[in-house]
Order: sequence, then C-alpha cells, then structure tokens
Amino acid sequence: MTVPFPLDGVGTVTIRRVDNDAPRPEAPSEYDDWGERSPEAAGLRVERWLIEVAVDGATTPVGDLSAHAVWNGPTIGSRALNIGISLAMEWRGRGIGAVAQRLVAEELHAEGVTRVEASTDVANIAEQRALARAGFQLEGVLRASQQRRDGLHDLQLWSHIDPGASPAAATSTVLASIDGIDLARAYPWPTGRPWLRAMMVLTLDGAVAGADGRSGSLSSRTDRRVMAEVRRLSDVVLIGAGTLRAEHYTPMRMRAGDLAERTALGLDQAPTLAVVSGSLDLPWTDPVFAESATPPIVLTPPGADPDRLAEARAHADVILLPGERDGTTEVVEALHARGLHRIVCEGGVRLLAGVARTGLMDEVDLTLSPLLAAGGQVAVGPPLESPMPFELVQTLHHESFLFTRYLARRGPAASEPPT
Ligand SMILES: NC(=O)c1ccc[n+]([C@@H]2O[C@H](COP(=O)([O-])OP(=O)(O)OC[C@H]3O[C@@H](n4cnc5c(N)ncnc54)[C@H](OP(=O)(O)O)[C@@H]3O)[C@@H](O)[C@H]2O)c1
Repeated sequence: MTVPFPLDGVGTVTIRRVDNDAPRPEAPSEYDDWGERSPEAAGLRVERWLIEVAVDGATTPVGDLSAHAVWNGPTIGSRALNIGISLAMEWRGRGIGAVAQRLVAEELHAEGVTRVEASTDVANIAEQRALARAGFQLEGVLRASQQRRDGLHDLQLWSHIDPGASPAAATSTVLASIDGIDLARAYPWPTGRPWLRAMMVLTLDGAVAGADGRSGSLSSRTDRRVMAEVRRLSDVVLIGAGTLRAEHYTPMRMRAGDLAERTALGLDQAPTLAVVSGSLDLPWTDPVFAESATPPIVLTPPGADPDRLAEARAHADVILLPGERDGTTEVVEALHARGLHRIVCEGGVRLLAGVARTGLMDEVDLTLSPLLAAGGQVAVGPPLESPMPFELVQTLHHESFLFTRYLARRGPAASEPPT
C-alpha cells in the first residue's frame, strides 16, 4: 500500500491492491459502453487496486484502478503498464482521480516499472486534466484505437516515467510535430456542457500585433489551420470591437464536410461572430455584416448612443447587456442564453482581460510565434488579485511555432470526469 494522501475537503486517499475478482464500487461511465466484448480480451492479465477514502477512521471504497502490461519489445525494460481508473459518481469532481493515478504510478515505479501509461478518450477532458495533475505527460493520439458500442474512438496517450530511471527517460519531453496530427482530435470540445476557450497568437516578447496593428504577420499557415480547427465546431467566435476594427473579419464559411459534422452536432451552418462594443463604432460596411450566414451579434452595455444603436440594429443582431456586473460575465451569459455554448474568444487584449476577470475561461489555446516584434501584451487591464491557474495539457510544434493547450484549474472539483 502507498503512503496515504490527505486531500483537502475529502479525507485521506489510499490505494490498496486487491484480487481481480474483488467487488468494485459501481462507477458507470459514457466511456465504458463497450458493446460485445472479445473473448480473447477476457484472458488479459489485469492488476487491480481499490481506491479508498478515510474520514475520521471510517474507510469508504470510492473507485478502482486497473493496470495491464503493454510490451514494446521482448525485454523487461520494454514492459509498460497501462492504467485505467473508475470512480463512483458521487466521488467525482474532488481531485481523487488525480491523487489515485499519481499514487499508482509511484507504486509501480517503486516496483521497477519505468513507464506507466494511461490512454483516455480524446473527448474526456476531465480525465486529461486529472492525468496532467497526476504528473502524466501527453504523448500523442492513438488513432482509431478503441472500439466501443458506437464505433471506433481515438485515444490520447499519456505517460508517467520513473524520475529515477535512465536520464534519457527522465528528461525526455515528447513534443509531437504538428505534421501527421489530426487537429480535430487535438482540439476537442467537451460534450454536455458550455465551454469557453481563448485562441491567441503571441510573439516571444509578448506582442499580439505587428507594425500594421494586426496579428497576421505573427502567424503561420499552420497557426491559421489550428485557428480554423478551433473555430470549426464552435457556436460563436467572440471578439472585442478593437479586434474587428483592426482585423476586419470576413464572413465565416465552412467546408461541405464540416457542415455535415456541424449539422450532426446540432450547430448552425457556421459559427456566429459576436462583437462586444460600448461605442458601437464598428465597420458596418465590412462584408461580415451583410454576407454572414447568421448575422453577427453585437453585445453592448446600457447607455449606447441612440443613433448608433439604430445603426447597429440595421446591420447586426444587437443584444443589450443588463449592465449589472463586470460587463464580460454578462456577455458570456447572454451568449449562453442564445444557446451558444461553444465559445472561442479570439481577443483582443482588452476583451481577454475582461474574460480573465470573470473566472469563466475553461481553456487557453496559445500559439507562441518565433518572433521578436517589440511592443504589446496579451491582456490589458487591472491585474487580478489572485491570478487564475491553468495546466498544460498539450504542446505541438511546427516550424518553430509552439501550439499550447491549457485548461483552467479550478480546485479539485475541476479534475474529475464530468458526470
Ligand atoms: N494575436 C492575436 O491572436 C490577436 C487576437 C485578437 C486581436 N489581436 C490584436 O489586438 C488588438 C485589438 O485589441 P484591443 O484591446 O484594442 O481590442 P479588443 O479587446 O478586441 O476590443 C476592445 C473593445 O471591446 C469593447 N469591449 C470589451 N469589453 C467590453 C465590455 N465589457 N463592455 C463593453 N465594451 C467592451 C470596447 O469596444 P468599444 O471601443 O467599441 O467601446 C473596447 O474598446 C489589435 O491590434 C488586434 O490585431 C491580436
């Protein structure tokens, strides 16, 4: 048994090896709907641990871990153990999964296993978070690797390498080149809940625009592919008025294949552009207003100039914000109220600062561009008393551009699979 781990607000978490046929706490999951099982897989040798939580001397089984061997060659050092976890519904969302997976990785390392793996569905963002918090590192995507009742699924592969193993293993950081990566799998949307992600490109010295006041000169073809992917299955692209004035967005258009996928997901034919503006001084003659499949939304706080408001209403779907709180929370709530739950915030710097202050950001997809441009910063505004923490769940690189994906860390509650 490993050292018990005290977890704030939960109790003490331990893992305990048990026989394969020991009773398991019931833990249904959308990722466990297997359909017909292969008789061959029934012969797979699996090790099991019970996850227990102790509070005031009373111990409750809350879930279990399993591990099976994966052989990458005929030598003992080529044997990795692939772990899986399940937690009873009522114990999810408290950080137990991250602790248990870290404990089992440490126990296996202590027994001489250098490489502990975990594979999880590309859509299972909560488990990806838990693995990151457990100290696992994302290695890539295993395409079409798991068959469940509804067909083949891609899995992400994560690993936890024994820090005491060979220096090469201990220090290697695996960065998958963007070549050969299926971007749709690399930038998934969670199902069944709203999601707010930011997408920005930033130079090595923190600039978000070049000398022309626009971001295009900082970007690359691959960065534009990533941005297109992040938008592709979104409901809405949210920007500040400054960005529209600088960048002059064009109407969003989707390819035929994407349209079919959007329709299957119940999304409109293209993401809607949503612009936040107090002044309502916007480039109304830009084609984005007249030629978008769905008219852009303009969100404005109370007190707009009546003439400008009338002009805005002639070109856009105007939402008057209630003006009760910080302004940006209301923007997000107004989009949700319209059924627009998959939000990509593309900046600019002042809107991003507003969103940061709401605490509602779920994900930041930041591209680091290999340039020094002098000038600029990502978010402008009064700093937060307590900066909001994020954790890195993915890095891809191509032609010296680094594409990162960070997920918000909102305490233990954020680290477990959504129920
Ligand atoms: N590198 C990148 O990825 C990237 C991405 C986007 C933009 N950019 C760059 O960023 C620059 C634009 O940034 P920016 O800070 O000037 O503009 P911004 O953040 O796009 O827009 C700021 C404007 O949005 C409106 N606004 C924001 N929050 C509001 C709220 N709560 N209530 C009412 N209005 C609100 C205001 O519009 P009004 O002024 O109309 O009142 C405000 O002036 C450009 O140079 C652009 O190229 C870079």
